[in-house]
Amino acid sequence: MLIFSTSDKGGTGRSVTSCNLAYRLCLTGRNVAYVDFDFGSPTAGALYEISAVERGVADGGVHSYLLGETGAAARVDVGTATDRPELKRIGPRAGRLVLFPGDEGGAEFLTTSDAVVTRCAELLVALEQEFRVVFVDLSAGRSVALELALQATALPQLRNRTTRWLIFHRWTRQHILAAAGLVHGPHGLLETGSVCGHDPAELLGSTRYVRTAVPHGDSHPVAQRAAQAAWLQEQDVALRRLATANRLGTTAVLGETPMEPVLQWREQLILDSDVNAHIANPGTASAYTELAHLLVDTAMWERLQ
Ligand SMILES: Nc1ncnc2c1ncn2[C@@H]1O[C@H](COP(=O)(O)OP(=O)(O)OP(=O)(O)O)[C@@H](O)[C@H]1O
Ligand SMILES: [Mg+2]
Repeated sequence: MLIFSTSDKGGTGRSVTSCNLAYRLCLTGRNVAYVDFDFGSPTAGALYEISAVERGVADGGVHSYLLGETGAAARVDVGTATDRPELKRIGPRAGRLVLFPGDEGGAEFLTTSDAVVTRCAELLVALEQEFRVVFVDLSAGRSVALELALQATALPQLRNRTTRWLIFHRWTRQHILAAAGLVHGPHGLLETGSVCGHDPAELLGSTRYVRTAVPHGDSHPVAQRAAQAAWLQEQDVALRRLATANRLGTTAVLGETPMEPVLQWREQLILDSDVNAHIANPGTASAYTELAHLLVDTAMWERLQ
């Protein structure tokens, strides 16, 4: 299964959430690949706390691979290379979690070319055969990375693979409108996808939204005063209405993550040990577990829009 993570805006929690979901899926025994397609700003190494590739690899990363500068994209086994002791002891039942880091000092592609699209498809085909789940963290917005992913997945060798598109957004007015625009708007996912040869209805059926850092829930009492709580409640209702009006209603949503104090301070994986130490909220870990479950739950994806 190929999972593409994207967002219209930057700083939506796309990378942090995707890294956490990859980790949670690996705990269920699946072999998982995490491919950093955020060419201008590869951050997955930092999230997995692998100091050697904190900002990507010096050479041979995904960016160099796509340009044909290296025969194989660099790979790093997260359990072996991480500096985080709890992550090293991931457990015998867990699958492998392998990072394909970006290039340090890499840059966004300005345009795609047939050669780059072909190499991208080759990489994705090979990874899809080796791993049960392949996460691809794309850059924000209507990026060349997104176009590349749409072009590659429209090719015959990838057309019939199970592919999911996740659109991450914060729980605010601007983010809701931006996420809707990225999918339905001009040069968005559906329009670009259809130019690349995708069936827009099928593409939409394999697209879900993930709301991140939603400021409510039992685990994180944001509101300290009654008036504040009432105001937050009102905003939440208004945002739900706005989301539904913009085709981001319940059936199009995979799920949400709660506002997590640890992640407001630091980009990282939320491990069960963080919850057991009473540092991270239990609701955050369970949201990741639930989202990971829904991602691979066929029934969820067969539901009509
Ligand atoms: N549930 C959460 N609660 C609080 N903060 C969060 C949550 N999820 C993510 N964050 C924080 O939001 C910030 C942005 O997250 P992240 O870097 O994953 O976003 P991004 O969409 O990948 O951004 P970019 O476009 O820069 O790659 C980070 O500081 C991260 O720790
Ligand atoms: Mg990111």
